[in-house]
Amino acid sequence: MNLLNLPMATKRILTGMQSTGIPHLGNILGAIEPAIALIKEDEKNASYIFVADLHALTSQHHPDKQRKHTHANVATWLSLGYQPSESRHLYRQSQVPQVCELTWYLATHTPFPTLTNAHAYKERAEKPATINAALFTYPILMAADILLYHSTHVPVGKDQKQHLEITRDIAQRFNNTYGTLLTLPEPIIQERIATIPGTDGRKMSKSYGNTIQPLATAEAITQAVMKIKTDSTPLSDPKDPDRCAVFQIYQHVATPEQAMTMRNQYQAGGYGYGEAKKALAHAIVEKYRMPRERFAHYMANPALIEETLTKSEEQVRKVANKNLGAIRRAMGFSTLNTTD
Ligand code: TRP
Repeated sequence: MNLLNLPMATKRILTGMQSTGIPHLGNILGAIEPAIALIKEDEKNASYIFVADLHALTSQHHPDKQRKHTHANVATWLSLGYQPSESRHLYRQSQVPQVCELTWYLATHTPFPTLTNAHAYKERAEKPATINAALFTYPILMAADILLYHSTHVPVGKDQKQHLEITRDIAQRFNNTYGTLLTLPEPIIQERIATIPGTDGRKMSKSYGNTIQPLATAEAITQAVMKIKTDSTPLSDPKDPDRCAVFQIYQHVATPEQAMTMRNQYQAGGYGYGEAKKALAHAIVEKYRMPRERFAHYMANPALIEETLTKSEEQVRKVANKNLGAIRRAMGFSTLNTTD
């Protein structure tokens, strides 16, 4: 037990995804599946999986998209086998307003240069008209997401590494001021599948419009796979599998034996990219057959999604209230006098 009487034996695993699109193969292979595997490693693990809909507001102001993407996000987690329970939470960030309060407290411990050096801001700093203050303070809200639940392990993509460093730094500064109150989280970065190529060969990303959605229909998957850019090596020539997006994606959705077979076919020559694409589309359709059915079911029944979320969010707010209360007291504030 530590200061806050939190059980120390288990991991508290937290991760979030912005509701700015429908999760794609890169998200699923690189973030969602590894997170679920980590959570299921030990029954005693607690987990906090959420839709970062407040973060999404830094780049998206469409209520309809917000709702649709949020549901698609939640349906993806549910379809891939993440079942909320007493210790496994699934929630919308916006349903836990405590996180905004904590963001303010943490902002008072965030050096200005930390934010001007953050990648997400730096990337767009040359186009100041596209930046809002929320984007600038994005890393602080993310730190609050993580620190509010005393998360111990945060599975994220490589691109989020800096945000985790900022989170740890803010937590350290806060602890230096008020006593060891916040838990410093460990990032869990999936190096092996950190970057799944998209249909244009660049990293798969919704912002590049090069995604493949494995929970979409078989036709949509085939269509996206057929678009994958390949070079002009003649059919009869040997090809380099490691420089081809089709093979690179295939090895993550096929069995090791299947991947080895395709590797040999590339290297032997006489094997065309068209064949490889057919095999890839087939592998994606097969691997995600069950989740695809569940996903369609959830998306056709939004009430089911809402019901699942509402139940989990109630529990999460209780944890948030309790943890935030301790933080408020440490800072010299009184506990909130509310009935909940
Ligand atoms: N910034 C993350 C992304 O764009 C989403 C996110 C928000 C997040 N808060 C988080 C991820 C807390 C992990 C932990 O992917």
